Amino acid sequence: MTTILVTGATGTIGSQVVAALKGREDVKVRVAVRSAAQADALRGGGVTPVDFEFNKPELIKKALTGVDKVFLVVPFVAEQVEHGTKFIDQAQQAGVRHIVKLSALGSGVVPGIDLGRWHRIVERYLAGSGIAYTFLRPNNFMENFIHIHPPGKDGNIYLPMGQAGCSFIAGADIAAVGVAALTTPGHEGKAYELTGPEALSLAQAAHILSGVAGRPVNYVDVPEEAARKSMLGAGMPGWMTEALLELNALGRAGHAARVTDSVQRVLGRAPTGFAQFAQTHAARWK
Ligand SMILES: NC(=O)c1ccc[n+]([C@@H]2O[C@H](COP(=O)([O-])OP(=O)(O)OC[C@H]3O[C@@H](n4cnc5c(N)ncnc54)[C@H](OP(=O)(O)O)[C@@H]3O)[C@@H](O)[C@H]2O)c1
Repeated sequence: MTTILVTGATGTIGSQVVAALKGREDVKVRVAVRSAAQADALRGGGVTPVDFEFNKPELIKKALTGVDKVFLVVPFVAEQVEHGTKFIDQAQQAGVRHIVKLSALGSGVVPGIDLGRWHRIVERYLAGSGIAYTFLRPNNFMENFIHIHPPGKDGNIYLPMGQAGCSFIAGADIAAVGVAALTTPGHEGKAYELTGPEALSLAQAAHILSGVAGRPVNYVDVPEEAARKSMLGAGMPGWMTEALLELNALGRAGHAARVTDSVQRVLGRAPTGFAQFAQTHAARWK
């Protein structure tokens, strides 16, 4: 029996990793949560919640006791590098054998952008720790159309992404690759660049959403300075605003359009297309 700790277990990817591991007879799943209410929602099917906060080493120590493997999601916060490296120190002390770390497409590119660099620092720290590792480096999640930039009441999606394509990936595919890495041999020391099956422009994605939502959805390309103003005006911290604008600039230049065969190679099936994802989650946009 393998005990697996999942951090970020209530988030977009962690929750889908937990769902995919739930009910398996060969693993015990420990989910790291910040509140008792979240814990109750996750219990059952071999899943046990544990109190967890990245800035509380005593909770991390308890959560890691007896753990064999970790699915590591570090939230997008200013302390992300510190959270990641300190967690790895404690995992090493606890005798963890394998960490599957959620990173981002382009994390391996030097110098790359801030977002990639922050992931790369933690990836390198993990690689140097002696713990076996697998890096998942996905492109933008399809779920961003639900959680981060859903169409507003006016039906518009405002983003500074120009007309370039992006090979959006479904979170369930990232989670499935993560579960394969945690439960089958041969993924140690690997970095998987994960994308969906095709590159779509935001206008093409909006068109697909219109079809399933039964209302017009349109993409509005926003000039970078207007996006900066609106993000800062909404209370987003400066470091986060600049990091996201840098990511969007990379996307506008066409660097998010790359399609890889990693999902096919690891799972033996094609990644989920955007139209299928949109159909599955249609109720979110109605
Ligand atoms: N969005 C994208 O398109 C994209 C693409 C590539 C890579 N990524 C990477 O994906 C990662 C984020 O994954 P996600 O989108 O699945 O996460 P998410 O949905 O933003 O959820 C964040 C998770 O972290 C937990 N959390 C936040 N602060 C915490 C703390 N101090 N201690 C313990 N747990 C804490 C949250 O718990 P609560 O429920 O308690 O808040 C939640 O479970 C980032 O590293 C990002 O760079 C994102």
